[in-house]
Amino acid sequence: MNRQILTDTVDRLFADNKGLLAMDESNPTCNKRFSKIGIPQTEEARRNWRDLLVTTPGLGECISGTILYDETIRQNGRDGTPIIETIINEGIVAGIKVDKGAKLMAGHPGEKVTEGLDGLRERLQEYFRMGARFAKWRAVFAIGHGIPSRSCLEANAHALARYAALCQEAGLVPIVEPEVLMDGNHTLEQCRKVTEETLRNVFIQLNCQRVLLEGMILKPNMVLPGLACPTQESVDEVANITVKSLGRTVPAAVPGIAFLSGGQSAELASARLNTMNLRFNSRLPWALAFSYARAIQQPALEIWQGKDANVPGAQKALLHRAKCNRAARRGEYTAAMEKI
Ligand code: 13P
Repeated sequence: MNRQILTDTVDRLFADNKGLLAMDESNPTCNKRFSKIGIPQTEEARRNWRDLLVTTPGLGECISGTILYDETIRQNGRDGTPIIETIINEGIVAGIKVDKGAKLMAGHPGEKVTEGLDGLRERLQEYFRMGARFAKWRAVFAIGHGIPSRSCLEANAHALARYAALCQEAGLVPIVEPEVLMDGNHTLEQCRKVTEETLRNVFIQLNCQRVLLEGMILKPNMVLPGLACPTQESVDEVANITVKSLGRTVPAAVPGIAFLSGGQSAELASARLNTMNLRFNSRLPWALAFSYARAIQQPALEIWQGKDANVPGAQKALLHRAKCNRAARRGEYTAAMEKI
């Protein structure tokens, strides 16, 4: 394992208070988001959307890394330049989603296990040759009656750790993403318990598989009440409990944490990250950053609507969210920024 290449990539991804733009939706997920606003669900439309994102002027001032999907890393932009080349030329580190999706877990109604380990070593070597320097694997955990089960937690943690070890062998920084889902009416306290249990399992397995903690990034959920829970705690409460849970479970050797947005509104995702950094930054062993998909892309997607004439407006909205989140890394995001 080449430790230097891993730690150099991690340093680049967390430098200058920047963060990550996740644009690695699988084709079905991307199509679902397109269909909601009447955008055609074609390869060309997906290409045009991703091209719009990466050609946003000034993106590299706020975004240090982008996570791509396999289709995108092989595509050329509208002017014929390979999309990955545009990203690298902007000074942004290219990453790639390498899991094959969360599949129903046999014998475990309501639970999923993420697949994709078969042939992963060879796929990682190819992505490295193409210019990717980090990767992502997402496991999902629903909260419900009796779930997540021990077997679901362990199977997903084991797969995440084996993926992470293979990434490091190939010179790619693994983003380890165990996501406790927001769907449902569970309370903040239930989410806290499940998040802590999940992260404990993940770090046991990462250590077991000899993953270099200094050469990885954790991408967790924030600790949040379910979307349908009648009690929705304040930004301060969410920030406090999230930092407390991470402090209990994430080793100090991990250099950085980049949250997923998970269905939060764009504004709340910025406000909560901001409060964590404002209140705790000087006391935390790891950097707290963002690796949002929906909370950065959604406002821009709604402006774009698949129309060329809307490209500049959509890019402006994208850059705005990127700037808000960069400010949130410094604890300098304010609601007033939304009025500009
Ligand atoms: P969201 O920010 O939309 O949750 O997406 C992050 C991600 O990468 C999901 O895997």
